[in-house]
Amino acid sequence: MRRSHTEQPGGNRREDWRRGKPLPPARPGEPSPATRRRPVLIGIAGGTGSGKSSVARAIARHVNQKNLVVVEQDAYYRDQSHLTMEQRRKVNYDHPDAFDNDLLYDHICRLLRRQPIDKPVYSFEQHTRLPQTIRVEAKDVIVLEGILVLDDKRLRDLMDIKIFVDTDPDVRVIRRILRDIRYRGRTIESVIHQYLTVVRPMHLQFVEPTKRYADLIIPEGGRNQVAIDLLVTKIRSLLPRTDRR
Ligand SMILES: Nc1ncnc2c1ncn2[C@@H]1O[C@H](COP(=O)(O)OP(=O)(O)OP(=O)(O)O)[C@@H](O)[C@H]1O
Ligand SMILES: [Mg+2]
Repeated sequence: MRRSHTEQPGGNRREDWRRGKPLPPARPGEPSPATRRRPVLIGIAGGTGSGKSSVARAIARHVNQKNLVVVEQDAYYRDQSHLTMEQRRKVNYDHPDAFDNDLLYDHICRLLRRQPIDKPVYSFEQHTRLPQTIRVEAKDVIVLEGILVLDDKRLRDLMDIKIFVDTDPDVRVIRRILRDIRYRGRTIESVIHQYLTVVRPMHLQFVEPTKRYADLIIPEGGRNQVAIDLLVTKIRSLLPRTDRR
């Protein structure tokens, strides 16, 4: 999707804006410059079942909750309401094209401009977007998590901290089997079939290679307390002094 120059956050000062410098002075009616500081964007990638959500939750526990919002890339799976259920089942949900990254990029830009978004709601049972959306207000810390958040260069270029959660494949597949059977109504045969024919090859082709873009590789996800502590210290250092906790 092409965007006009004026749509870019920060307008002519795009480069400055991307480096996390304060936005240009406020125009009449806009919030004061102090509250218009660019939020911090953290990207958390990693294979299925690696513990991305646990890392996001661990960060949320340590950073003032009112200052943080988590955006899941899963919410941005493409709308497939025009497809039959049978066709939806056959879609490759581990390929970068499965995600509506144009919309995700647009929403992240809005949050970085401190504008609210209407986040889509994805149903794993219906394999498509639901009619309702969730209003999400901008916060000082935005955490974007999902298997392929480091695959899109536009998103990578916006991130202040890029993380890859690196967990052994045997642990990941066990977690995946339990989750899909317990919460997504799948059978063990269907989970294993999807893992071997789609999830694993797509992981090797698209997810694993994005590890090279990470600033920080976290082994064992949310249970790695040392990594979480280091990360939280870094995040706090990027926040205005009054907002630290
Ligand atoms: N409609 C669908 N049918 C089957 N699988 C789907 C569907 N939509 C998404 N998926 C699967 O969802 C996975 C993405 O979710 P992910 O594994 O990141 O969640 P997670 O278990 O929460 O990970 P983590 O433990 O790291 O938080 C993809 O591997 C994809 O195969
Ligand atoms: Mg998750």
